[in-house]
Amino acid sequence: MALPKIALVTGCTPGGIGHALAKELRQRGLKVIATGRTLEKIAGLKELGVDCVALTVDDPKSVAACHEEVVKLLEGKGLDYLVNNAGFAVFRPATETDLDECKRMFGANVLGVINMCQTFLPELLVANGTIVNVGSVAGHMPLPFMSSYCATKAALHAYSECLRVEVAPLGVKVTYVQTGNVRTNKDCTKYHLDKRSLWYPIKDTYEREQERATGGMDSADFARRFATRMLGGYKHTIWIGEGSLMCRIIGALELYLPFRIFPFAFSQSYGMQRIASSSKMNTWLT
Ligand SMILES: NC(=O)c1ccc[n+]([C@@H]2O[C@H](COP(=O)([O-])OP(=O)(O)OC[C@H]3O[C@@H](n4cnc5c(N)ncnc54)[C@H](OP(=O)(O)O)[C@@H]3O)[C@@H](O)[C@H]2O)c1
Repeated sequence: MALPKIALVTGCTPGGIGHALAKELRQRGLKVIATGRTLEKIAGLKELGVDCVALTVDDPKSVAACHEEVVKLLEGKGLDYLVNNAGFAVFRPATETDLDECKRMFGANVLGVINMCQTFLPELLVANGTIVNVGSVAGHMPLPFMSSYCATKAALHAYSECLRVEVAPLGVKVTYVQTGNVRTNKDCTKYHLDKRSLWYPIKDTYEREQERATGGMDSADFARRFATRMLGGYKHTIWIGEGSLMCRIIGALELYLPFRIFPFAFSQSYGMQRIASSSKMNTWLT
């Protein structure tokens, strides 16, 4: 009888993609190792037979400790799937994003993933495994007030594309997930514009668009589709989540059109023209 495949999924807090995916993969018979920054938060997964390990991806000591623990759990076997899911977004004007917040985001969404790939490569080599990086369609769209997040996912995409070429001859594969909108814990954080912000005149659309971004595909449904594609044979890219197909089509069209659709559409939906005519802007410039 074939041994069950083994998957390590990062960022498995209940309510999020990682948690839903860990459950789904376990239900499909895989041995699953789930990680969380706070072990208590993910303890419920243990009842399903999931192994839980503490991990803060942007802390090299935590990655090393997690690796040590995972190697013990693998008992000499290789890792079939390393799902780099942990990450987060902030919603702030590009020129007003706090640099420390920005560094934390790059730490979790990019550097943490790089460290995980480097650290777990030996175990991936044993199993001819697959690295699955959870990216976002945001990495290819000029989403207002999400510039730093978009930059992290664009960086993750570029890293994944290069990594794929380098590890292919070693028998390791890389899948990049172009995630659309999914209903998760991300919807719980609300950002507000500072009264001194140059974008304060469109505070109403800033808040409305955040509200509109909440919701999306149900995380359990997303996890089912994710698992089916991930386990159904190698794919270099997987597009799933609300709006991902539309982003794929518009992104492809933009390569051939003499104009770009996304910047115009987002500028309109946010009412950006109101900034140029606002008295605050005029005062600031004089
Ligand atoms: N939901 C969407 O619409 C959407 C769209 C595109 C891409 N994505 C991507 O999907 C992934 C999962 O996000 P989600 O929507 O499921 O959000 P979520 O529910 O907030 O889950 C994010 C997970 O990442 C963990 N995390 C954050 N920073 C970490 C760090 N430095 N070290 C270790 N773990 C960390 C969180 O742990 P804590 O609970 O401790 O904070 C949580 O477990 C992210 O990479 C996100 O960018 C989501």
